[in-house]
Amino acid sequence: MSTSHQKTSAAIAALDYVQDGMVLGLGSGSTAEVFVRKLGEYVAEGLSIKGVPTSERTADVAREAGIPLIPVDQADCLHVTIDGADEVDGHFQLIKGGGGCLLREKIIAHASDLMVVIIDETKLVGALGEFPLPVEVDPFAFTLTAKKVYDALTRSGIERPDVQLRRKGDGLAPYITDGGNYILDCACRTIPNASATDQALKTIPGVVEHGLFLGLARVVIVGEDSGARVMEL
Ligand code: 5RP
Repeated sequence: MSTSHQKTSAAIAALDYVQDGMVLGLGSGSTAEVFVRKLGEYVAEGLSIKGVPTSERTADVAREAGIPLIPVDQADCLHVTIDGADEVDGHFQLIKGGGGCLLREKIIAHASDLMVVIIDETKLVGALGEFPLPVEVDPFAFTLTAKKVYDALTRSGIERPDVQLRRKGDGLAPYITDGGNYILDCACRTIPNASATDQALKTIPGVVEHGLFLGLARVVIVGEDSGARVMEL
């Protein structure tokens, strides 16, 4: 069956974590968008929630779906964030940022009481790193920052990483995040020690944030052909 069917079953299962009155972090990417559209159907039937989107794109989809949004600085608390991921390992460690929204996604996930991750089964991996790790950097001196990122990845045990500036569809202009930053996509093949990589990247001044989400997800819902498999830590 298709990954699209799997994404839909994961998104529907995530609705079990939503209750009336909640403030929800709304993730980004195609799987999160399926969830947002399903949530909109429940809102139309009377569910009362408020959403805090993690990207401009998700904000647009949520508005289309009829979900009331509040500005993030008016959210006293965030009960649950539901988001997708590019890779998830057996310890619920994630790579995110394929869609370029990792900074806002991480801020919202970190501020939430619970992060629920929804994925199709292709995202479940034995070891992180086949998906290139996105690192969001300040445009100022990004070439110098890219060298520091290479060094940090190498120091944390990644052999010969390939660090590339993400570009727009035209292949020329740099891709710009919602926060006005660049993204370095770092092909690592495998990340042997995600905590060491996390720590090493954090020490670089030009790095705004990176796509390793460690210790944030408590629930992972995997869409499979036979339905949704819910895993809780
Ligand atoms: C965006 C993300 C997405 O959650 C991730 O890229 C997965 O997207 P999709 O559900 O389209 O596969 O981190 O920054």
